[in-house]
Amino acid sequence: MTNLKTKVNIAGVELKNPVMTASGTFGSGKEYSEFVDLNELGAVVVKGVANVPWKGNASPRVAETYGGMLNSVGLQNPGVHAFVKEDILFLRKYDTKIIVNIAGRSVEDYCEVAEVLSNADIDMIELNISCPNVKEGCVSFGVNPHTVEAVTKEVKKYCKQPLIVKLSPNVADIAEIAKGAEAGGADAISLINTLLGMVIDIHKRRPVLANIMGGLSGPAIKPVAVRMVYQVAQAVKVPIIGMGGISNGDDAIEFMLAGASAVAVGTANFFNPRATIDVKEGIENYMKKYGISNIKDIVGNITV
Ligand SMILES: Cc1cc2nc3c(=O)[nH]c(=O)nc-3n(C[C@H](O)[C@H](O)[C@H](O)COP(=O)(O)O)c2cc1C
Repeated sequence: MTNLKTKVNIAGVELKNPVMTASGTFGSGKEYSEFVDLNELGAVVVKGVANVPWKGNASPRVAETYGGMLNSVGLQNPGVHAFVKEDILFLRKYDTKIIVNIAGRSVEDYCEVAEVLSNADIDMIELNISCPNVKEGCVSFGVNPHTVEAVTKEVKKYCKQPLIVKLSPNVADIAEIAKGAEAGGADAISLINTLLGMVIDIHKRRPVLANIMGGLSGPAIKPVAVRMVYQVAQAVKVPIIGMGGISNGDDAIEFMLAGASAVAVGTANFFNPRATIDVKEGIENYMKKYGISNIKDIVGNITV
C-alpha cells in the first residue's frame, strides 16, 4: 500500500501527520533540529511561554524514576515577546504547524499572552492549565470544571487561532473537566500533563527535588493517559490530542484507538532524540500491516 493517507484535521488546521511534540520536551524546535527534520512532523508544540520571563524552580528539578522521570522545572521561559522575536521565524522555515503552549499565574496573564500571540504567525494556541509545578495559577485552574470553563471562555476571547486546552490528570473525574473545557469554547483538548509525584533520597532522608514534589512523565504513565483519553473521547465532540509515555508507533496507535486524533511525544525525546520520527514511521508500519489506508479509520476504532 503506497498511498497512505496520514493527514489529520484538528479544529480546521490540517496536519500532514498526527505526530507532534509535547510542550517543554522539545524546546522551541531549534534544539532538536539537528536530529529531526522538522518537516517530518505534523506540528511542533513549543515550551510554555508566559507574559513575562519566568526563572523556574530551584535545582535539583529533575529526577529519573522507574519508567519515567519527575520534573519540577516550573515553566522557565523567556517570555512571549522574546519568543515571538526569536523562535517563530526559525520554525516558519519548516513545513510544519506551530502550536504555542501558554502559561500564566492569573487569567489576566493568560489573556495577555494570547493577545500577543493572536497577532503572531502561529497555527494554534495550547492553554496549559495543568502544570503541577507552579504555585499559583496553572493546575489550580485545571482541577474544577467550572474554573476550566471560565478560564477557557476568557482566554478564547483573545485568540484568533484555534484554542487547545491541555488537561491535568491530577483530578477525580477527567470527563467532567473536559466537558468544562468544551463548554468554555475549547476547539480541541490535549491530555495528559504530568502526574504529581515525589521521590525521596533514602540516604539523605529528604526529597530529591528542591520543590519536594514534581510531575511524573514517561512510559510509566501511559496506561493512565490512555484511560483518560478514552474517557474524554466518550464525553466530548472536539478533537483530542493524546500524550503520556508515547515512545513508539504502537504507543501512538493505542492512543488513537482510545480516541485521539493526534498524538504528542514528550519524555521519549530525552532518551531518543529521534522518537518523533520513530513514532511517525511506526504508525505508517501499523497502517501497512493492517491494510489501513486512511489514518482516520483508526481513531476510536476499538470494540469494548
Ligand atoms: C521537562 C518537562 C517540561 C514540561 N513543560 C511543559 C510545559 O511547558 N507546558 C505543558 O503544557 N506541559 C509541559 N510538560 C508536560 C508534557 O508536555 C507532557 O504533557 C507530559 O510530559 C506527558 O507526556 P510524556 O509522558 O510523553 O512526557 C513538560 C514535561 C516535562 C517532562
